[in-house]
Amino acid sequence: MCGIVGYIGPQAATEILIGGLEKLEYRGYDSAGVATVWEGEVQCVRAKGKLHNLREKLNGRENLAQIGIGHTRWATHGKPEEYNAHPHMDSAQRVAVVQNGIIENYRELREELKQRGHKFLSETDTEVIPHLIAEYLLDSSTPDLNQDTHLLEAVRQAVNRLEGAFALAVICADYTDEIILVRQQAPLTIGFGQGEFFCASDTPALVSHTSAVLSLENGELARLTPLGVEVYNFEGARLKKMPRTLNITPGQVEKQGFRHFMLKEIYEQPGVVRTCLDTYLNSDWHPLVGDQEEVVADAQNQIPQSPINLGLSDSLYENLEHIQILACGTSWHASLVGKYLLEQLAGIPTMVQYASEFRYAPVPLTKNTLTIGVTQSGETADTLAALDMEKRRREGLEAEYQPRLLGITNRPESTLGQMVSQILETHAGIEVGVAATKTFVTQLVVFYCLALDLAHRRQTLSPSRMKDIIVSLRQLPAEIEQLLEKQDRHIEELAHEFAETKDFIFLGRGINFPIALEGALKLKEISYIHAEGYPAGEMKHGPIALLDAKVPVVAIAMPGTVYEKVLSNAQEAKARDARLIGVTPISNQEAAETFDDLLPVPTVEELLSPILAVIPLQILAYHIAARRGLDVDQPRNLAKSVTVE
Ligand code: G6P
Repeated sequence: MCGIVGYIGPQAATEILIGGLEKLEYRGYDSAGVATVWEGEVQCVRAKGKLHNLREKLNGRENLAQIGIGHTRWATHGKPEEYNAHPHMDSAQRVAVVQNGIIENYRELREELKQRGHKFLSETDTEVIPHLIAEYLLDSSTPDLNQDTHLLEAVRQAVNRLEGAFALAVICADYTDEIILVRQQAPLTIGFGQGEFFCASDTPALVSHTSAVLSLENGELARLTPLGVEVYNFEGARLKKMPRTLNITPGQVEKQGFRHFMLKEIYEQPGVVRTCLDTYLNSDWHPLVGDQEEVVADAQNQIPQSPINLGLSDSLYENLEHIQILACGTSWHASLVGKYLLEQLAGIPTMVQYASEFRYAPVPLTKNTLTIGVTQSGETADTLAALDMEKRRREGLEAEYQPRLLGITNRPESTLGQMVSQILETHAGIEVGVAATKTFVTQLVVFYCLALDLAHRRQTLSPSRMKDIIVSLRQLPAEIEQLLEKQDRHIEELAHEFAETKDFIFLGRGINFPIALEGALKLKEISYIHAEGYPAGEMKHGPIALLDAKVPVVAIAMPGTVYEKVLSNAQEAKARDARLIGVTPISNQEAAETFDDLLPVPTVEELLSPILAVIPLQILAYHIAARRGLDVDQPRNLAKSVTVE
């Protein structure tokens, strides 16, 4: 949420800043701005709306400044207007600041500064920061006056007055050779080039320049000069830090011929599911079935070799009685599928909570409980805060209440990765489209692996059942490929018929109820069509009142426990004139008579079906939105990672 970039080095900064902001635009696109130090002044250019507006405004105002900061905004405090756009400056226009996060005590600080004569031009929380820094720069008691680290000291003093979660980049017209960075619970990474340094709130903005990066940790400041990078803590002590190597390539953040990132990411799903399975399924595992298995297990008096290799510490599993999962958005939907798997395969009672709700109404403490935070970005403020709260309230209690935390994320280098020592990575590669697709299916894959690992340890599945599930999982990538190949065009044609539709209902039951929620969310997010996901059996308790010929109903009907039930629920919708669309592998007479349109998926057993069932729903949402001429990758009002509460 909000993107920050910075550059210092021998090249002209503005073009580099704009290039970086392009890669971060998915973090917010309400306004954008850059500030450079040129001819002894801060030159600040800002524009409302998307980045191309800023580009246009910069036309004719180019300078050759070799230092600058930039920002793309997702509005929190103050409307998305130019006067609220970052960078913000002090009254003398010497200090410029970009911020990502929220300054919680900005009202008090603003009042205090106003009383000392400061004038504010925006409604933002950020504007207090350059004013505070300017005061500390002038304050003779600020240590190191006239020394190299004076700007750093002024920023450090200002930061110690701030409450909240934030990341900052600061430049000053009087210190033409340095950028000061601050990280406090919002991500910020430094990129190391040859005699030049970059910074960004997310690594896609760095990959085209360097693969040597250093992510700041909470409570750290950095001073970037053409000579190098110095890192300090909030107490002012210098820290020793080493860069690490980034494992993403520039190509991963390009569209590679696809019209939108979302479509590219939908098409990447067979590959990323395969990678994720290869990572966690034990290729040496050979199932011993029937008597053979029992004999070996008895003889060795131990659990036979696991089909899954997650690399987690055994202490997470010891005497495990409960699992609680905390997540937001699409990750919450994946967690609902996870709950089904953990309960039905491994027999562990599992609770899924919205992290934003859990923070203020935590469930009573249970013993021997594993808490899983699921967040593709690893930066969602509510998920991180809920996990932190859970950790704190358990610390110091008896052994069986001690915190056991596990993170599931696509970004192990994220704040989540720094916060939780046990991580399961989803290996989906960078996802740029704001609407999650490939990260969702890989979260599902990780949940299958976790549930199977637990099932193996608790011996809740027979070896032959375990084998069947693993064989079916291994077939998924090819089945997704087949689905994309056969159905994309068909779904595109069908989507054209819904370009003007106002409401949709998605129905699913059991393990596919979360897929109905996810299908509805995808459509809402990118096409702005109202859509509701509902458990099929509950439709008659309310949503059925919405139905008429203008409201299409998408029913996920996978053969298995609830197939007939879903079909009956679909019939109830049909009886109210709704146009029925079936996501199903069945193409028999009954299905043909029930559904007006089919979104066929390959034949798959019910347990594995969510990974296939969600794909036509992603494609349907994509084509409806594209047909409506909308900005699929950057839907209005949304941001890819929500780093504010
Ligand atoms: C935002 C995104 C959603 C995402 C949610 C949770 O709202 O737009 O696509 O599902 O955040 O993100 P996370 O990174 O925690 O999975």
